[in-house]
Amino acid sequence: EASAELRRAESLIRSIPDHPKPGVLFRDITPLLADAAALRATAEALVAPFAGRFDAVAGVEARGFLLAGAAAIASGAGLIPVRKAGKLPRPAAAEDYALEYGTATVEAHDDLPGGTRVLLLDDVLATGGTLVASRRLLERLGYEVAGVSVLFEIDGLGGRETIGDPALHTVFRS
Ligand code: PRP
Repeated sequence: EASAELRRAESLIRSIPDHPKPGVLFRDITPLLADAAALRATAEALVAPFAGRFDAVAGVEARGFLLAGAAAIASGAGLIPVRKAGKLPRPAAAEDYALEYGTATVEAHDDLPGGTRVLLLDDVLATGGTLVASRRLLERLGYEVAGVSVLFEIDGLGGRETIGDPALHTVFRS
């Protein structure tokens, strides 16, 4: 049964204190990815609320790539990698966003026609900076962003408000 499988998938996420720096509780999804049934259930849950409303998924480097590959196959969609600056050979657009210290940039190619409906995926929503920049990037390329879907949110950082989009789906709600 799907929700039991999802609960089991969530239980596989490993919490690692003080990574990558003291005071941060890192939630490691690699045990979930390593489990075939959990990976399938998670990929299906990421896309389920948007069924029939997207033609491609976009995954944000790096952990979003892993989920987007599985979600694309599970839903019969194409895949757009949203990459950090300097990795793609011929980016069609770039979008900057603020980090705690400094800025970062996401880039993408424009391999699909304008108007393509894209579901944006990542593992975690924290401040929302990465996903807001990624959504702007996809829109600049002429894509229609059908929604944003993540595995979980980190509370207290304002990510949900920053996304400000009713089409935000979170698979594992705490
Ligand atoms: C993490 C995470 C999200 C982003 C969320 O990626 O995978 O992409 O941060 O943070 P935000 O909501 O505050 O923008 P990270 O930048 O650590 O990159 P990585 O996946 O390559 O490690």
